[in-house]
Parts: sequence; structure tokens; C-alpha cells
Amino acid sequence: MSKDEIKIEVEDLSLIFGNNKSQALKMLKDGKSKSEILEKTKCTVGVNKASFQIKTGEVFVIMGLSGSGKSTLIRCLNRLIEPTDGSVIVNNVNITNQSNDELLEARRTEMSMVFQKFGLLPHRTVIENVAFGLEIRNEPKEKRLEKAQEALDTVGLKGFEYQKPSQLSGGMQQRVGLARALANNPEVLLMDEAFSALDPLIKSDMQDELLALQNKLHKTIVFITHDLDEAIKVGDRIAIMKDGFIDQIGTAEDILKKPATDYVKAFVEKVDRKTIITAGTLMWRKPTVIQFEKDGPESTIRKMRSTSENAMPVVNKDHEFMGFIWLPRVLEAEKQDKKTIEGFITTDCPSVYEDYTVEDMLPLISNTKSPIAVVNKENKKLLGIVSQTSLIIEATRFDDREIVELKEQAKEQ
Ligand SMILES: Nc1ncnc2c1ncn2[C@@H]1O[C@H](COP(=O)(O)OP(=O)(O)O)[C@@H](O)[C@H]1O
Ligand SMILES: [Mg+2]
Repeated sequence: MSKDEIKIEVEDLSLIFGNNKSQALKMLKDGKSKSEILEKTKCTVGVNKASFQIKTGEVFVIMGLSGSGKSTLIRCLNRLIEPTDGSVIVNNVNITNQSNDELLEARRTEMSMVFQKFGLLPHRTVIENVAFGLEIRNEPKEKRLEKAQEALDTVGLKGFEYQKPSQLSGGMQQRVGLARALANNPEVLLMDEAFSALDPLIKSDMQDELLALQNKLHKTIVFITHDLDEAIKVGDRIAIMKDGFIDQIGTAEDILKKPATDYVKAFVEKVDRKTIITAGTLMWRKPTVIQFEKDGPESTIRKMRSTSENAMPVVNKDHEFMGFIWLPRVLEAEKQDKKTIEGFITTDCPSVYEDYTVEDMLPLISNTKSPIAVVNKENKKLLGIVSQTSLIIEATRFDDREIVELKEQAKEQ
């Protein structure tokens, strides 16, 4: 990640609640646990030496069980809470060193927070609620209503401007909360369990809408959730917290494939891997290929013998995927004394891009047993192949150990 790509940089950030902060901090730095520190100093560790960087335009998810420090961490980002130690750098400015006036201004313009309990004012109309942040900033009434209206249109609440929050459903109230944050036109949206209180179906709609919105607006979003499926759906990267400490940061795939701790593993075991594992990870890279212009039946047979494959991908001189050639067809070509394999290639076989998931690929399984070619999206060059067997194993697997064993067996065969 280069310097200009980074929106928020957190370095060695610790937050301790209680009166005996310096002793607690010292114990923390000596590697003492949250419970030891609590017992000895009566202080609670909120955040324990967190370090990470968030890219501009990224949806960065913070995940963890209740009490793991998610809210405390996000509040340190806009200094609603003063960090005990470490620094928070936003747009290359260390906000831990800023005076309160500067900070207040930055907080208002750069970052807006959306809360779980929507925090709406019950006696005000929807549009007045959305305009509230702008009112505090002393924007003229006309201007703020205009901006509020625009934000309401963005979240699909046109027509509800003059209702009271209590007349709206939970999902709609949360849209008002989101519109209120957007009305400030912030660069960063901080969303603390914003969808956690919603019914599952409404929650799913809101996630879709957030993603659609993000496609248009390209904000930097810090999104807290305790729900892994939600984290995977909305997050570009996920940080997993336990007892104030960040156990692991990575893409959903990183975390699912290589959980760093037992705690992360416990989270991960509940997910449907079919929607996560992609062709890119499943494929066999750089398989032996048949070069259409170069390889005749003789050399094709030779390559198949030496690898014990009965189907091989065929590429042209630019390494673009053309199709598969099957052993019986090559033998036929050889029998007919052909010089090339032209006319003996099966061209109507499936090909996918690297980011196709197992779920996307399952419908491509056919009784021809043809492997699936993985090609580069831009130049259609062959990147690798996914065998139907590995796809079926991936789709039906129950246990990680089982797959490791199966893969080892497959290698040996
Ligand atoms: N104002 C506070 N005073 C003392 N302890 C707090 C305070 N706020 C949070 N905590 C403690 O800090 C830890 C992290 O809490 P929190 O950040 O709210 O977790 P999460 O958002 O992941 O549920 C918990 O142990 C919690 O009890
Ligand atoms: Mg919380």
C-alpha cells in the first residue's frame, strides 16, 4: 500500500478504561492479559496495540464478539474517545496531536458515524433529522435542506421527508441514519453495527444498497459487525478482534483459508465456503498445455503419457485458451495420420475468470467431465484449470482435514 493510497493509519493504538491507566498500559506492554490487568489495576483494556492501514475507497470491516473492543476502536478513529497510547493518522495528519477545534472541524467534514440505535430525534421530521448535522455546522437553512433532500434521494427515501421517525420501519429509520451521515458528504463513513438490529431480510437489502451506494460514491467505510456473513459480503478486508487485540487482518478468503488463531477459526467454521472460494485459488496453475500451432498428434500423445492426463487445454501462440483435446480424439488423429490436431479439439467447454466462486462454477459441471479453464479477464490468456473433481470436493466438503487428505491423495495418484 503506497502512502497516498492510505486514508487511515492506526499505529500501536491502545485504549484503557479506568483510573490507573499508566500501570495498566505498562502491564499491557509487558504482554499481560486483559483479565490479569483488570484484576491488578481495575482497568479494562478496550483496545490492545492495534495497528492497521485502511485504503481510500476501501470497505474495512472490524469484527469480533460483543465486548471485543470494536466500538472503542472505531471511536478512537474520530477521537470520540482519546487513545491512551499510539496514534491515528487520517489523510497523513496525526489527529492524536491536533487541538480540539481543528479536530472538531475534521471530525465533522471528514468522518460521519452511523450507529446501531439510529439516534434519531423523535420530534423532528425525517428531513430535519437528516439536516441536523448541517444545522450544527451553521449551514443556511435552504442549503441544508437541499443537501438533506439529496441524501434522502440517495438512500431511497424520497416521499418520506415529512414523516416522523416513529412512522417508519426499522430498516427505513436506519436509512435516515445513513442519509444523515451522507448529508455531511464525509470522506469516511464509520458504521458501528449499523445493520445489526434489523430483520434478516431487511438487513440483506441494506447490505446490497450499501454496496450499490459504495459503487457510486467510493467512500472509505469502516464497518463494524459481529456477523461473519455480513463481513464477507460488504468487506474488502476484515480485521478480527478479541479482547481488544486484532487477531488477524485479511481478505475474506485469507481469513477463511488460513485462520490465524483458534478464535478466528471458530468464527470461520460457520460460513458457506461455496460463496467464497474462487477459481483463482482452486485452479491448478500452469498446467501442461498443447500448443495448437506447434503440437501435432504425436507430441500431444507424448505429453499426455508423461502426465497421465487424458484431457489437456489447447492454447494458440498468444497463450489464449482454445479448448480441450481428449486422448481418444488424439489417437484418432494419429490413426488418420494427421499433421495437426485441427478439427479434433473440443471447443465448447466452459471457461471462467479467476474471481468466479465455486457456487458460480457448479452449474458448469457436466457429464463430459471437462475441466474448467480459467482465463485472464483482459487478454483471455489461459491461467490454469479447475478439474471437476476438485470442484465437487470443494462444494461438498465438511471438514478441512478431509480436504487436505483428499488433495494429498490426488497428488499421489
Ligand atoms: N465507558 C467504558 N468504561 C469502562 N469500560 C468500557 C467502557 N466502554 C467499553 N468498555 C469495555 O471495553 C471493552 C470493549 O467494549 P466495546 O468496545 O464496547 O466492545 P464491542 O463494541 O466489541 O462490543 C469491554 O470489555 C467493555 O466492557
Ligand atoms: Mg459495540
